[in-house]
Amino acid sequence: MDIAIVTGASSGLGREFVRQISQKKEAPDEIWAVARRIERLEELSDIAECTVRAIPLDLTKKESFDSLEKLFTSENPTIKILVNAAGFGRMGKNEDISRKEDEGIIDLNCRASVSLTDAALPYMKKKSRILQICSVAAFQPLTGLNTYAASKAFLMSHAKALHYELIRYGINVTAVCPFWIRETEFITGIKKTDERAVKHFPFYSKPPFVVRWALRDSRFNLWVSTPGPVATIMRIFSKITPHFIIVPLWDIMRRI
Ligand SMILES: NC(=O)c1ccc[n+]([C@@H]2O[C@H](COP(=O)([O-])OP(=O)(O)OC[C@H]3O[C@@H](n4cnc5c(N)ncnc54)[C@H](OP(=O)(O)O)[C@@H]3O)[C@@H](O)[C@H]2O)c1
Repeated sequence: MDIAIVTGASSGLGREFVRQISQKKEAPDEIWAVARRIERLEELSDIAECTVRAIPLDLTKKESFDSLEKLFTSENPTIKILVNAAGFGRMGKNEDISRKEDEGIIDLNCRASVSLTDAALPYMKKKSRILQICSVAAFQPLTGLNTYAASKAFLMSHAKALHYELIRYGINVTAVCPFWIRETEFITGIKKTDERAVKHFPFYSKPPFVVRWALRDSRFNLWVSTPGPVATIMRIFSKITPHFIIVPLWDIMRRI
């Protein structure tokens, strides 16, 4: 059985990945949709054009990976696409973000994405694809979002190395680095600690655009995908501008 696995499928980008992957000519037999809210996962059958299996798991818990590995062993699927979209952040002063929240960000954005990739790889074949959903936050440190930005830098760096390691097996790995996206729960989530740490979220895009762009770049086996012109300009700007300029510049801009 050919499958795709999408984490963070109960909302935002993950939900849209399920919809678009199910509509492709090469759609898998099943999409395994992972997140905590089962009722949201069950609703995916209404928007998907192939079978969706709801797998309610908290990916910050180690036992979730034991259940997933058991499922892989019993079903022995071929994993054609893995999208690690589950992720969250918190913005605000370092002292206002609790140790538990910081650890949660690292557990979900870094450890869970790497663990699921490791667990899935033995079930992948030539032409299988991995999409690690990072962010333009990966390109430089960001005040007010320090742990979140660092977690995405970790994931992007891991994805780039894996991209080269897996070329000989014909498996594509792409780090997807979007700019702000509206119509997801992410921005509401990052505002939970401090509503005003970042005042504006300009030049946002919407999930269908970002997902279409990311799936295309993954097919072409780009190691980094920057959906849209703003994300691409951010990537270039962060390459040519030293961090000692970008960090204070961002710190001013986020307060205006
Ligand atoms: N929106 C943006 O501006 C933006 C920009 C750049 C990058 N990104 C990245 O894009 C990815 C998707 O974000 P989004 O915008 O679609 O946000 P979202 O709507 O908040 O979706 C996040 C998803 O992660 C799941 N999730 C959260 N905690 C989890 C846990 N402990 N275990 C399992 N699943 C968990 C949530 O489902 P449950 O609550 O049901 O578990 C939800 O489905 C994230 O990695 C984010 O960092 C977002």
